[in-house]
Amino acid sequence: MLIRTGKQGFEHSIPSDITPRRVYQQRRDLIRLMAAGASGAVLAAWASRDARASTVAPGKLGALPGMTSRVAGATTIEKPTDYKDASTYNNYYEFGTDKSDPARNAGTLNTKPWTVEVSGLVRKPGKYTLEDLLRLSAQEERIYRLRCVEGWSMVIPWVGYSVSELIKRAEPAGSAKYVEFVTQADRKTMPGISSGVLSWPYVEGLRIDEAMHPLAMLAFGMYGEVLPNQNGAPVRLVVPWKYGFKSGKSIVRINFTDREPKTAWNVAAPQEYGFYSNVNPAVDHPRWSQASERRIGEDGLFAKKRKTLMFNGYEAQVGQLYAGMDLKKYY
Ligand code: MTE
Repeated sequence: MLIRTGKQGFEHSIPSDITPRRVYQQRRDLIRLMAAGASGAVLAAWASRDARASTVAPGKLGALPGMTSRVAGATTIEKPTDYKDASTYNNYYEFGTDKSDPARNAGTLNTKPWTVEVSGLVRKPGKYTLEDLLRLSAQEERIYRLRCVEGWSMVIPWVGYSVSELIKRAEPAGSAKYVEFVTQADRKTMPGISSGVLSWPYVEGLRIDEAMHPLAMLAFGMYGEVLPNQNGAPVRLVVPWKYGFKSGKSIVRINFTDREPKTAWNVAAPQEYGFYSNVNPAVDHPRWSQASERRIGEDGLFAKKRKTLMFNGYEAQVGQLYAGMDLKKYY
């Protein structure tokens, strides 16, 4: 059943609609494949994926309270990456630098209780418990592409709401120009912290108008469930038009400042990772091209790389934020 929320005019469905909608999306993709003249073998392979649909939503973790699903707007009709891939191929250096380390090691992350402090140049600073944050706004499912700077991508159904919901409540002062996202750094529970690979805590940042953009999301869940620890439980940032490293995991402080935040990767290797880090196929990483990407889960013998899209395909929505800027200089 679809219900319309007056506030933003988005259509939401009740939680029980979420799975049928995914099935519906898969059907739409199938129709697209057929329209594109896909071969019998491709269609057979696609049909067998349906049988594996349960791996997309495993039902192992708890459901998110109060979740609704967004059926219009900034989603993608691409098929979501398998849950197993999305939750076992991760970057979360606090738990190790190998892609399989976070799933293996992040069980020690203690997410209860959890508090996020809102600080800096705001009229209403404060501390929010996770429960406060979950109550703050309706949660929506949004299927976003995540493009990692290393050259791979996934399609993930996140659950959460726009960061702007929280920012509006904090009432930033006119002097606040940037938002800094500080993440958890606990030597006792995070084995990677004792390595010198980055300076901890992992900090990310956005210009305040970027953070206010409706696509920038505070995510509490994925695939209809609470976030697994390795994906940034209990709350993380998702900025779909920027390289994945801008999306800080396990956030503990959101700080408003008048200076560009010193972000973890920019401090570690300023020539390679700028503050903006917008997905841009025309600006190479100094050591490799950014023109194409490998979609995780499409590793078959004949799998072709995909062309990387400007702003990760969200140019129509976010391009205006950078009007007139030299994106080679502000990489
Ligand atoms: N956040 C923290 N705290 N620590 C990290 O190492 N890695 C980033 C980002 N957020 C990272 C982090 C990088 S490089 C990427 S690509 C994404 O998380 C990966 O998110 P995923 O594992 O959920 O796909």
